[in-house]
Amino acid sequence: MSDSLWMACYITKPLMTCPTCISHFLSSSVHVQQREMDIKLLAAAAFLVGVIVVYWFSRGSGPRIPGPPAHPLVGHTFQVPTIKTWKYYEDLWHKHGPIVKLTLAGDDILVLSDPADAQELASLGRRSRIYSSRRPLIYAGKYQSNHMRFTLLPYGEVFKRQLGAFHTMLEPRIVGTYEELQYQSSLRLLADLADTPDNFFRHVPRFPASLIFLLTFGKHLDEEGSDLVEVQKVLADFVYDINPGAHLVDTFPKLDLLPDFLSPWRAEARRKRDREMKLYGGLAMDVKARMEKDPELECFTARLFEQQKQLGISDEEIFYITGTAFASGTGTSAATLLWFVMAMTHFPGPMHKAQEEIDTVFNSYTLPDFSRVKDLPYVFALIQEVIRWAPVVPLSFPHYLDVDDEYKGYTIKKGTTVISSLWNMHHNEEEFPNSYDFQPERFMKKPGQELPSLLGEDNYGFGFGRRECPGQHLAVKSVWIAVVRMLWAYDIVPRKDANGVPMKCDEQDCTEGLTSRPNPFPATFVPRSAAHIETIQLADRRA
Ligand code: HEM
Repeated sequence: MSDSLWMACYITKPLMTCPTCISHFLSSSVHVQQREMDIKLLAAAAFLVGVIVVYWFSRGSGPRIPGPPAHPLVGHTFQVPTIKTWKYYEDLWHKHGPIVKLTLAGDDILVLSDPADAQELASLGRRSRIYSSRRPLIYAGKYQSNHMRFTLLPYGEVFKRQLGAFHTMLEPRIVGTYEELQYQSSLRLLADLADTPDNFFRHVPRFPASLIFLLTFGKHLDEEGSDLVEVQKVLADFVYDINPGAHLVDTFPKLDLLPDFLSPWRAEARRKRDREMKLYGGLAMDVKARMEKDPELECFTARLFEQQKQLGISDEEIFYITGTAFASGTGTSAATLLWFVMAMTHFPGPMHKAQEEIDTVFNSYTLPDFSRVKDLPYVFALIQEVIRWAPVVPLSFPHYLDVDDEYKGYTIKKGTTVISSLWNMHHNEEEFPNSYDFQPERFMKKPGQELPSLLGEDNYGFGFGRRECPGQHLAVKSVWIAVVRMLWAYDIVPRKDANGVPMKCDEQDCTEGLTSRPNPFPATFVPRSAAHIETIQLADRRA
């Protein structure tokens, strides 16, 4: 047997099963160098066979879950783009159907595009429990968060305990008591827009930030927004650090066994944790100090300190819970409102229709409030459409399967990451025809049908099951009051260039990671009448 034939044989046949190869290998009298090369090739072939065997046995029984062809060694690792990943998943959905499997750096990923599947897996019975975990992350979970950050917690006792703490701030009954603060913060937004209408890109995100800061820590954001800037930095780090592939140790967990001097990443993660604890711990301890002077102090952090024993949470958990509430609620609500502004620059028809409806309920001397929600069904539908048209968390936040499962005949392995593509669900042409158009009408109720009590009820923008957004009641009410008041007072239009030509507000130009929001764009707010501005200024002086 020639050497080349032998090599071909051992690469293509299962190793050490071909007697001719073995005897050739043992008896060959070729040069030592050749022998070394043979050994390397043998090792390579053994590795390849190992990979194939592992792959074969890990396929599980039953039909193969659809998906694009995978590379035998790296799976789909280099096929999945890290930016605007939702657009790639949209292609996969059209090519392979609503359940797609990928393998990224050795981990199975399931991408769901049909809300019925997401509902079935995340929300119903036994499955809702096993599909409600988060992928364990060594860098961001163990070292950066000391296993305490709610969004990364596995499903279990600590998660349930912290969820209980979130409910003390976010359940609908409690959210109902925040209306006065929502009025104050949205009035400030209207006044800022009157002063510097072109600066909306700063004013709009400031509205949820100042509201949630006030609700969480019982004080106003400072004028320069230094707390906000620091939170944004901390959040940007965190969003980067949880990205698949951001840290090698999360792909190869055994690296965590190496000592500190060989693992500089560990010190870096701990430094980030210290920075966060300084920020959130400082804010929370400041509340504690103020509680001593003012036992009536009302805010989320104060309530957690009061109920600390009952809830069974440590000081450090309070720091993480309050920090998470502020960080998770601020960016998402701001992004929704910025997408609203973007939509209005593109679709003046729905904007004017909503304004006509508002005018039948509130005249120019009456600031809109929550008393007439049910009399504004079109505005209600318009907000639903914003959340559908541009979901701010397009792939939701990935869930993680705790034990092996069978679904629709497919074997889904423990440790699979399950992604609900809200983007695909919101662009399903059967449920939402012409899904790229902005048509609030699709959410209008038929005569006699009740408006849902919650604005997000008819779309999927807040996720599924036991991990669905606990802040949605607060979010939808805040978005509602800001949208109604902005539409009541202003036309939202593209700014004009030096030649008087409207500039392009490009909805494709947006952030492209875990969350999506427009990058700065040239819109402006034009008062609908002098009377509206007078009403705002008068109310602002009284506030
Ligand atoms: C319009 C605004 C908002 C949108 C679109 C939104 C959307 C989402 C989505 C899609 C998830 C992932 C759900 C899942 O894993 O299945 C989520 C999780 C979360 N949201 Fe929101 N959210 C918003 C506002 C808020 C607010 C105001 C708060 C709190 C003040 C908040 C707190 C959270 C928290 C703590 C989680 C993590 C839940 C967990 O890990 O179990 N969100 N949100």
